[in-house]
Amino acid sequence: MTAQIIDGKLMAQNLRKELAEEVKKLNKQPHLAVILVGNDEASIIYDRNKKKAAEDIGMTCDIHHLPEESSEEEVISLINELNNDNNVNGIIVQMPLPKHLDSNKIIEQIQANKDVDGFGFYNMGLLHSNNKNAFIAATPQGVFYMLQKTLGDLSGLHTVIIGRSNIVGRPLASLLLNNHCTVTVTHSKTKNLPELTKQADIVVAACGIAKIVKKDWIKNGATVIDVGINRIDGKLCGDVDFEDVKEVAGFITPVPGGVGPMTVAMLMNNTLLAYIKQNTSL
Ligand code: GUN
Repeated sequence: MTAQIIDGKLMAQNLRKELAEEVKKLNKQPHLAVILVGNDEASIIYDRNKKKAAEDIGMTCDIHHLPEESSEEEVISLINELNNDNNVNGIIVQMPLPKHLDSNKIIEQIQANKDVDGFGFYNMGLLHSNNKNAFIAATPQGVFYMLQKTLGDLSGLHTVIIGRSNIVGRPLASLLLNNHCTVTVTHSKTKNLPELTKQADIVVAACGIAKIVKKDWIKNGATVIDVGINRIDGKLCGDVDFEDVKEVAGFITPVPGGVGPMTVAMLMNNTLLAYIKQNTSL
């Protein structure tokens, strides 16, 4: 058996087309502000992709690039300026931040109704209590979208998530639970990890260890979603050993071309949502 590939690039392209149609109907262009501190190479590329995606959809996007040595006060002062600017609908601070900055403290400065990354405590709290008004982080939302498009109703399916980060594992666990999945969250201290993943209908790998997931970890026909972005000898690869696992999985995402493009599209979706929320008086 060879797994069917879930084409994240194509799904993201279709979603971006739908978003562009929605944006055309508005009388103003939604605006995303991206704050990038320092010169992390991957972050610079990610943010360039976000700006291009926003502009292709008909939104506007500014990257506010601050020097590596910027102080907490300088970053917070920029956030306050953007919070108070009615032309700005969404604000994100690209992670990781330089070590001397407290990311929790900085994220908390973003007004909740502009927190399109959904990283702030308010939006996290809404998501964890199954409140529909939450901004949900883009990567978990992208994973959920791909699962729904591929499998339909996810009720009762057992998902094993590898990784408990605030950006992926934890919000994804809540999102799946809110949609009636049975969820197991595993991490670096989990015992007998392959025994757990082998029971899963869906495995989501988000632990940042190159090709750790092998075919003997996966039940026949299971769906495998790879959130990892690693490099081996300069070549991009995920947390799943793709060539090995595709022999047993029913569906599998590739790296690149899987979750990555969906993350960017979902951030645009959140920015459009922010615009609509801010311009609708209820
Ligand atoms: N770093 C890795 N993923 C993300 C993301 O989704 N948003 C931001 N702001 N930074 C990240």
